[in-house]
Amino acid sequence: MGSFPERGYLFQLASDLPAGAQVIEVGSWMGASTCFIAGGLKGAAKIYAVDNFQGLSTCGEDAAWYNRHFQSLGKASTLEIFQRNFSALGFAERAEPVVSDSLAAAKQLGNLKGTVDFIFIDGDHSYEACQADIAAWAPFVKRGGVIAFHDFGSRADGVTRAIFEATKAGRFAEIVGVANTIIAFRM
Ligand SMILES: C[S@@+](CC[C@H](N)C(=O)[O-])C[C@H]1O[C@@H](n2cnc3c(N)ncnc32)[C@H](O)[C@@H]1O
Repeated sequence: MGSFPERGYLFQLASDLPAGAQVIEVGSWMGASTCFIAGGLKGAAKIYAVDNFQGLSTCGEDAAWYNRHFQSLGKASTLEIFQRNFSALGFAERAEPVVSDSLAAAKQLGNLKGTVDFIFIDGDHSYEACQADIAAWAPFVKRGGVIAFHDFGSRADGVTRAIFEATKAGRFAEIVGVANTIIAFRM
């Protein structure tokens, strides 16, 4: 999932964060993007990796894709694979998986509002879900922090539309950069 330029960009965004940064990822799957972010972090930084780890998505196209994967894996969750990948790269201390629906997790982690340096959103790709994710998670990012999205301008046109609308509504201060379908904004 994700191209090499996108992976490199996540690494770069994470490398630009201060030591000990707080990071949230919404949609971690097997941990590829999480590992590239973790690789760029410094000091006692931490990533809350929010995912139901079951591919439970309201985006029908995605749900079918996840189902095919789970059938071939013979598993009902990618949590174990996520943890194995993360540990194999020596990042185990950096990640705290939050096994939850995105919006429920936003409530659970409510004490982090306004404190997070970087959020990467790559969860449910329907328009309504992406719009709800922006509303729920943008308030977590501290002033000057970064929020980035995967699949902007991709086949997931609901994601593109939700991000366009949020941009037009002035939710983000400026565009930080773009790498293929990742777009990053400063808050
Ligand atoms: C495209 S994958 C993430 C890929 C990962 N970021 C990467 O690049 O390696 C999307 C993930 O979002 C999760 N997801 C979808 N809808 C969600 C929701 N409402 N709450 C939590 N996780 C969700 C799925 O389980 C899936 O693991």
